[in-house]
Amino acid sequence: MAKQTYSGVRRRIRGSAHIRELAAAVHLSHRDFIQPLFVDESIDRRTEIPSLSGIASDTPESLLRQISADVECGVRKFLLFPVPANKAEGNFDYRFICGVVRDIRTHFGKEVWIAVDVCLCAYTSHGHCGILNTERNAVLHADTAQALAGYAVQLADAGADCIAPSDMMDGRVGAIRDALDLHGMTEVTVMSYSSKFSSQFYGPFRDACHSAPGRGTLLKDRKTYQISPFNGGDALLSAFRDIEEGADIIMVKPALPYLDVITGLKRQVHHPVAAYHVSGEYQGLELLVQHGLADRAKVHTEVWAALKRGGADIIISYAARHAEEWISGIEY
Ligand code: PBG
Repeated sequence: MAKQTYSGVRRRIRGSAHIRELAAAVHLSHRDFIQPLFVDESIDRRTEIPSLSGIASDTPESLLRQISADVECGVRKFLLFPVPANKAEGNFDYRFICGVVRDIRTHFGKEVWIAVDVCLCAYTSHGHCGILNTERNAVLHADTAQALAGYAVQLADAGADCIAPSDMMDGRVGAIRDALDLHGMTEVTVMSYSSKFSSQFYGPFRDACHSAPGRGTLLKDRKTYQISPFNGGDALLSAFRDIEEGADIIMVKPALPYLDVITGLKRQVHHPVAAYHVSGEYQGLELLVQHGLADRAKVHTEVWAALKRGGADIIISYAARHAEEWISGIEY
């Protein structure tokens, strides 16, 4: 082989859309996308979320119309976020979202794939993702894992295809897998938010789900259970641990600031890796667009390409319903 040199002309591979398309190392497909959906028990009509441009919270009725519209746009996979009307400290009532899942199944059968975000933060009066101790200064991991396992069984019974625990309590994936298997729900997939960082990029989401942590507690943030942005190793170990406990799909969240973790996982495990391009990341792009500083389709597809290059198999994006159109329009 000739001695490798790096000098000289690179433009032969850049000179036309044809050669750029041929030379592209990743290609996007709308088939890899999951569309998040918010369903809120306390609203009586579909309500735009001001901090999440173009995204609304649905009632159970408007949600069915949204899913129909999304199916028309080529979306088949959904991640549901329930926002229950009543907040509590324990004995949570999951009937609202279970009813919603049943309705979706009745209307769409197996045409759609339904994952449900499983966490207590929209259920608790204090907004934390778990049950608090009596001093209200720590979350109880084992108790929360048990509560989530019971929740998962109810969701699976209602027809959910996938349980997606986002709470970050130790032991929850194992508790959920065991409970599902014990109830004969061996076909239900677990997509773990395995590598979820304590992040500023969840701001718009917490608006939508009324789930900002801290009300009436000494614990003002999620740093004691979510991963530190300064510790990528913890994110890898957390994913390995969740795989050991039975996770079928692992996830990195947020996505773009943690490409190193996506790449690290892709190299080291053979499970599908999902990247969650979260609310603040999405809204950051939307604000650029609103200020005339970027093209909407181009800026989202650019980030999606980055996530693919980084090793993501699955992309969760608030703009998933545009993926088919935007991807087919990519100009290389
Ligand atoms: C619930 C949960 C959060 C997100 C998904 N599930 C917020 C949080 O941990 O505070 C964030 C999603 C987004 O920002 O798009 N635990």
